[in-house]
Amino acid sequence: MILHINYIQHAQAASASGLVPVLFALLEEGRVAPGARKPSQARCGAPEAMVRRRFGSASDRAVFLCALLSTLLGGCGLDSPMTTVLPKSDLGGVIHDLFMHISGWALFIFVIVEALLLVAVWRFRDRPGRAEPRPVHGHVGLEIGWTLIPVLIVISIAGPTIAAVFRIQAPPPADALKVEVIGHQWWWEIRYPELGVATANEFSLPVGRPVSLSLKSADVIHSFWVPQLGGKRDLIPGRVNVLSFTVTAPGEYPGQCAEFCGISHANMRLRVVAQSPAEFEAWIGRLKMPPVRPAGDAAKGLQAFLAGGCVACHTIQGVSPGVVGPDLTHVGSRKTLAAGLLPNTPQQVARWLANPPAVKPGVLMPKLPLTEEQIAALVAYLGSLR
Ligand code: CUA
Repeated sequence: MILHINYIQHAQAASASGLVPVLFALLEEGRVAPGARKPSQARCGAPEAMVRRRFGSASDRAVFLCALLSTLLGGCGLDSPMTTVLPKSDLGGVIHDLFMHISGWALFIFVIVEALLLVAVWRFRDRPGRAEPRPVHGHVGLEIGWTLIPVLIVISIAGPTIAAVFRIQAPPPADALKVEVIGHQWWWEIRYPELGVATANEFSLPVGRPVSLSLKSADVIHSFWVPQLGGKRDLIPGRVNVLSFTVTAPGEYPGQCAEFCGISHANMRLRVVAQSPAEFEAWIGRLKMPPVRPAGDAAKGLQAFLAGGCVACHTIQGVSPGVVGPDLTHVGSRKTLAAGLLPNTPQQVARWLANPPAVKPGVLMPKLPLTEEQIAALVAYLGSLR
């Protein structure tokens, strides 16, 4: 069933990405009969050879087959972390159960309707000497049947849907862990107001404890979406939306901004790390520690950080108070950089520092006039902030 749903998601993605229209275009092309003229070409009197149907060639058939197979087999991928069919929270479970319930009805109706259609086509096909079939106008039993059955099906879908909506909108329990998620163009600010720590783009949550995410925006509308943890919820300027759930299994769950928010919308990723309560406490403990005192190249990096424009935008506890960009107090402990765009390796940090807009179009961080030595020192310093 998972493969089946993955296939549906993949088919939707293929459709959205334009693959299906391409396939249909190829099929349409194939409907031109051998030797026939297309209207435009017929008008201008093009020779027969120029209007041979293109789909008829071996290479076109191979392209069609490859496109079809990639669409179908793509649904068989098991390594699909951005999936809603392997829910890892109670909220994700509620949505998934509802989806499966409705999909079950859709499959059932599809099978019944197609079966009846085939039976009707076969039984009532035209044969020589056969009389006209009897019309069913005014058949009371049929009229009642095909009114009542859909009503019952709609009720059986509406009941669980309404129950799921109330569950999804329920206020969080009083003991829920409070987390503020603030959307920026194009990164995620994460704050734990009761614990006094902040981070960006990737954050930890304890397994088994209810969490309450307060979703806010610093600029335009964004949307928080970690598929395995539940549905999308918007971050709207001037408003606080709440998303509450309990993670049920440890793991790393990737997410993505799900509302178009500008040129780098697709570069606004996030990562939730679900850990045991003890591991979560240890992680919070590390965030509370002051940054290490840099030495060697890292000390030169601190000087470059203070002398360059960095301090104006970034917070490093005890060093700088900037709030325009992500808090960098423990940036060295993050796995990714630039809202999930790059792995947090020295090479990629250097690439980012050299020219941020080349990596993330539209980013507020400008291309600073840094020398190669300054970049190397900054890489050492940022990497030491663990
Ligand atoms: Cu933020 Cu799209």
